[in-house]
Amino acid sequence: MDAGSSLFAHIEDLQGDLPWGSFLDAGTGTHSIRWVSSLSTERWVAVTGATAHAIQVRDAVEAVRRPQDRLIVANWADPELLEDERFDTVLADYLIGAVEGFAPYFQGAMFARLRALTARRFYLVGLEPYVAQDPATEAGRLVWEIGRFRDACLLLAGERPYREYPMRWVLDRMAEAGFRAIAARRFPIRYQARFVNSQIDMCASRIALLADPALASALTARGEALRARALAFAAREGGIRHGFDYVIAAEPA
Ligand SMILES: C[S@@+](CC[C@H](N)C(=O)[O-])C[C@H]1O[C@@H](n2cnc3c(N)ncnc32)[C@H](O)[C@@H]1O
Repeated sequence: MDAGSSLFAHIEDLQGDLPWGSFLDAGTGTHSIRWVSSLSTERWVAVTGATAHAIQVRDAVEAVRRPQDRLIVANWADPELLEDERFDTVLADYLIGAVEGFAPYFQGAMFARLRALTARRFYLVGLEPYVAQDPATEAGRLVWEIGRFRDACLLLAGERPYREYPMRWVLDRMAEAGFRAIAARRFPIRYQARFVNSQIDMCASRIALLADPALASALTARGEALRARALAFAAREGGIRHGFDYVIAAEPA
């Protein structure tokens, strides 16, 4: 079972015998939609801000999608998006951290938006920020360096990196928006080679866009040195243990 699947297994435990009913996957992707489409829902609606994401999601569930299931490409900053709809279950799976890329400065308002959509249960999956602070451990430092390097490359290429939020901040915003948290749990992360490679590879395509060849070559060398260090550490230690994901379950207050 991968780390993400254990978070969904935890959500299934929290749900217990409660029916899933109508289900909103408010920040969809192939991982969450595969799980959502495996549940006995009455119908699901999946929202993404990116057409490329929507194509991947459509292809991932083509075989099991029912006539009543809908995939929508739209922006939560649009007040008309699903404004008259309510869902028994709402999932925000790594959505809040990604809002920076689609509707910067809208993160706070997202919670009122999600509250208005929730009839019964709200589940939020998030990643505790790891880019802002220098951690004390060697593993933490590697993850921190990879995060800073990735975000620097994205910024240099004119893109907006994701911005994750601490569990405490999210709980406070949820309470303000009218949610009553019923469970909150941390899941420690062990990053593997796949994470290291995906992050450094993501940078390579951004570095290729840079007009300054000296900067591009220095960044490429730095990325490859970081990759080699992180892969060696992960091979030696069985992964890079640092930080945590969190799952919050809530109901309308
Ligand atoms: C990191 S992905 C979520 C991961 C996904 N659940 C999975 O299984 O892979 C973030 C999702 O939230 C969506 N998103 C972020 N901000 C959004 C916004 N303002 N409006 C609509 N969708 C948004 C992105 O388009 C993307 O589909």
